[in-house]
Amino acid sequence: MKLFDLSQRMENVQSSPTVRLNALAQELIKAGKDVVNLTAGETDFDTPEAVVEATVTAMKAGKTRYTAPHGTPELRAAVAAWFAREFQLTYKPSQVTVTAGVKQGLFHLILATVSPGNEVLIPAPYWVSYPEMVRIAGGTPVVVDGGGEFHLDLKKIRKLLNSKTRMVILNSPNNPSGGMYAREELEGLAKLLEGTDVLVASDEIYSSLVYDGSFVPFASLSADAYQRTITFNGLSKSHAMTGWRVGFAAGAAPVIEGMGILQAQSATHITSFVQSGAIEALKESRADFAPRLQDMRERRDLSVSMLREIPHLELEVPKGAFYVFPQLKFYMDKLGGGSEALAEYLLTDAEVAVVPGKHFGDDSRIRISFSKDRKSLEKGFRRIQAALAKL
Ligand SMILES: Cc1ncc(COP(=O)(O)O)c(C=O)c1O
Repeated sequence: MKLFDLSQRMENVQSSPTVRLNALAQELIKAGKDVVNLTAGETDFDTPEAVVEATVTAMKAGKTRYTAPHGTPELRAAVAAWFAREFQLTYKPSQVTVTAGVKQGLFHLILATVSPGNEVLIPAPYWVSYPEMVRIAGGTPVVVDGGGEFHLDLKKIRKLLNSKTRMVILNSPNNPSGGMYAREELEGLAKLLEGTDVLVASDEIYSSLVYDGSFVPFASLSADAYQRTITFNGLSKSHAMTGWRVGFAAGAAPVIEGMGILQAQSATHITSFVQSGAIEALKESRADFAPRLQDMRERRDLSVSMLREIPHLELEVPKGAFYVFPQLKFYMDKLGGGSEALAEYLLTDAEVAVVPGKHFGDDSRIRISFSKDRKSLEKGFRRIQAALAKL
């Protein structure tokens, strides 16, 4: 052991690659380069004014002291009411916990329930943080390859399930692909898990951003699915509140309690006055969100049509979230590398920042965020088209 050695726990943990690439693009922009940054994991809308006002009012009213670890009773009740209104999912406030974003909630769930030696099934493509969180907890992430298309490979999952399997992490609508699981696939998984002690962490943070088809919360599938699922949602994507750090989790009370113990022993709770803003945000209806959803749908359509002009590119039209995840193997082979080499080429040659698919479990793709104004999207896709044509 040396003075600056990190713990054994840190040995296999990587820092967040999406954060690193975004920072690199920012650096180039600062240096005067005209980089089109298509890496954003957030919308460019403003936080709703009413939310800001409610927060400022709370601050001025002195709501600046400690609250309860799970969040104020009012906020827990508001989250429970929101789940009932949005998805007809019934949770008692005691089944709800509020965390610093869905990220912290997932971290707490994994730390609270995954023991060293446990396996956690993660269908690919997956959000970059899941495997790292499992490793931090001493568990083993087991990636389930979807074979390119966004779907749940139930045959593979059946084979991988064993006595060490503790959890399956689902994310639909999905980051990075924008894919959304069909009800039948989810029902198939729910059936497969019946009689097991496998928890489901269902990360539904993009549930408000659905363009085609209807979103199905995993916990709504059956009484059994409801029991074993911890459902995650939050305000980051739906309310343009990424910096506020508000996420919530709902599920079986003993698990939620465990998550609350970790919160109480670490951050204590999320910021007190932000919780008043969160209550205001949860009052927003689907009709309030409709114009923003339509705006995003148009950006999705523009991105898809511009990508379709590129030969040798495979594309699944995203049904939700704000990402496209095209397969660009043809160009990677020409360049002689994988998704990282292609992302670097696009950044240096075309001055367009994207995220390599490798970090999401698919090295033949890149993730492009269409959460950007129309002009930038057009400029970015034109440049990508030209840079790829050169290969
Ligand atoms: C799939 C997924 N889950 C969770 C998060 C984290 O969200 P939050 O800001 O609520 O921590 C993100 C953010 O990019 C995400 O894409």
